[in-house]
Formats: sequence, C-alpha cells, structure tokens
Amino acid sequence: MSVVEVKGFRIPLVGLGTWTLRGRDCARLVEEAIRIGYRHIDSAQMYGNEREVGEGVRASGLRHEVMVTTKIQPTNLAPRDVESSTRESLRALGFDAIDLLLIHWPNPGVPLADTLGAMSKLKHAGVTRQIGVSNFTTALLEEASRIAPDIVCNQVECHPFLNQDKVLAACRRAGVAMVAYSPIARGSAAGNKVLERIGAAHGKSAAQISLRYLTQQGIVVIPRTSKVERLKENMAIFDFELTDAEMREIHGLSSRSGRIVDWNWSPQWD
Ligand SMILES: NC(=O)c1ccc[n+]([C@@H]2O[C@H](COP(=O)([O-])OP(=O)(O)OC[C@H]3O[C@@H](n4cnc5c(N)ncnc54)[C@H](OP(=O)(O)O)[C@@H]3O)[C@@H](O)[C@H]2O)c1
Repeated sequence: MSVVEVKGFRIPLVGLGTWTLRGRDCARLVEEAIRIGYRHIDSAQMYGNEREVGEGVRASGLRHEVMVTTKIQPTNLAPRDVESSTRESLRALGFDAIDLLLIHWPNPGVPLADTLGAMSKLKHAGVTRQIGVSNFTTALLEEASRIAPDIVCNQVECHPFLNQDKVLAACRRAGVAMVAYSPIARGSAAGNKVLERIGAAHGKSAAQISLRYLTQQGIVVIPRTSKVERLKENMAIFDFELTDAEMREIHGLSSRSGRIVDWNWSPQWD
C-alpha cells in the first residue's frame, strides 16, 4: 500500500470511509477491507460506529498495521469535552490508543487554541498518536499550524468536480497531508463521461480514475462503499499512471462551486 509521510507519520494513500456504515455490516466490512489490504479506516464520533469499526479492526488480527482516524464532533470542542469525548471514543474503539484524532468541523464558539491545546495534552498522554483538522479553510489551517505545528492533516471535500487548488497549496505550505473526503463525489464520478473515457483507455472504471487523479497528486483518499466487491476496485489504482494531458483534462472538470457537501449545514454550536 502506498503511503504519504508527514512529520514522520505514515498515512496510507487509500483508506476506507465509514460514514453511514452501521452495526454488524460495518464491523464485517471493516474486517474484510483489512483482509484485502486496507490499512487506513476513517471514523468519527458523529458516525456512531466507532464501536463497530473497532470490532472489525480487532477481528482482522492486524490492529498493529492499521491506522484508524476518528473525529471530535463540533459540540465537543471545549477542552473538558475534548478530553471526555476522546476517552469515550477510545473506549468504544477498544484500542490502546487512537492513531489520528481530528477536529471534525471548526466551531467558532470555542477558541481554536483551547481545542488544540486539549488535543495536544491527549497526544502527550498517549490517548492519540497524532492530531489534525478537518474542514479547515486556508486561513484556519494557517492559524492551526501556528498553534499546533505538529498537526498532520486537513481532511476536506475533494474530487474532480471541486477545485481545491488553494487548500492543497495551503496544506503543502503547512507541511500537512490533504485527505480527500467524498473522493468519488458520492458516487457521481462513476457516471462522468470524461472519466469513463479516460478509464476505458486504462482498463479502469471512472471511480478508479477519480481516485487515481487525487492520489497521483499525493492526496490521500477515503472512499466509502458498502459493497465488498467495490473495496477491491477502489484500491486497485496503483498499477497505472495518468498522463499529464489526462491530469489536465480531469482538472478541467473542476470548479470552485463544485461542492457537494453542504457547508451551511450547521451543527448545534450553542
Ligand atoms: N470530514 C468530514 O466532514 C467528512 C464529510 C464527508 C465524508 N467524510 C468521510 O469521507 C468518506 C467518503 O466520503 P463520502 O462517503 O461522502 O463519499 P464517496 O466516498 O465519494 O462516495 C460514496 C458513494 O459512492 C459509492 N461508491 C463507492 N465506490 C464506488 C465505485 N467504485 N463505483 C461507483 N460507486 C461507488 C458508494 O455506494 P455503495 O455503498 O453502493 O458502493 C457511496 O454511495 C466518508 O465515508 C467519511 O468517512 C468526512
């Protein structure tokens, strides 16, 4: 499995997204994903599946090889809540430590330094190995890096239809990995004619072209699927290379307004 290395921490380039996966199906799918080679699983307090993700990882017998991310929900970003909710996440996962702990979405009602300070304490206490952020704008990412120079990633929406050049440049400046969520645009990359045509030239599906386009730029991807057969498909992207012309053509599909995840979605911040 290809990895990116950030500040000495290795992040597998392809991970399994688990939003919407629940119960026994979630545990079984996580276990199967690890069996076929996944070494990176993405969970969150908000997904309500940390227990099942932990079960699947432990059932695989390969806990020591797998990097598991979880995310603190925006209502838990005050220092005391960071501490208690993260310890609860760790109990649910059933591990000795979380591998990567992220702020899920920024919460303007809580000073960023307070949240990152509490997360750093948890890192020093061994509750999590690494910390990072998600859904941070370029300005917020710069602020976060000043406060906590050891953050390792910014997880953001990223796929061929959304132009994230500015965020990618900011991640590179800050020396953090960009982790792409919704990397196949919630499935809609699969029906795109340009991606299908480029895929046909390589014997690959449009979804695989979307994932290859991102990983070829060093962007980590965390596609979600509920189907075992697609687990393999979404990993089989390292045996071919897109040409510069193909990369440019795919980039041409993107726009600044190509977001599919609603940023006006507002958690209960008060
Ligand atoms: N940090 C954040 O705020 C945030 C926000 C959103 C998501 N995320 C994370 O990112 C992960 C992925 O994002 P996402 O779930 O929004 O979208 P996604 O991974 O881009 O798309 C998932 C959808 O694509 C379908 N799919 C998967 N593989 C496919 C393939 N090879 N061909 C065709 N269709 C395919 C899946 O359907 P089937 O199940 O039928 O295969 C599912 O409906 C999430 O699960 C979550 O872990 C994080």
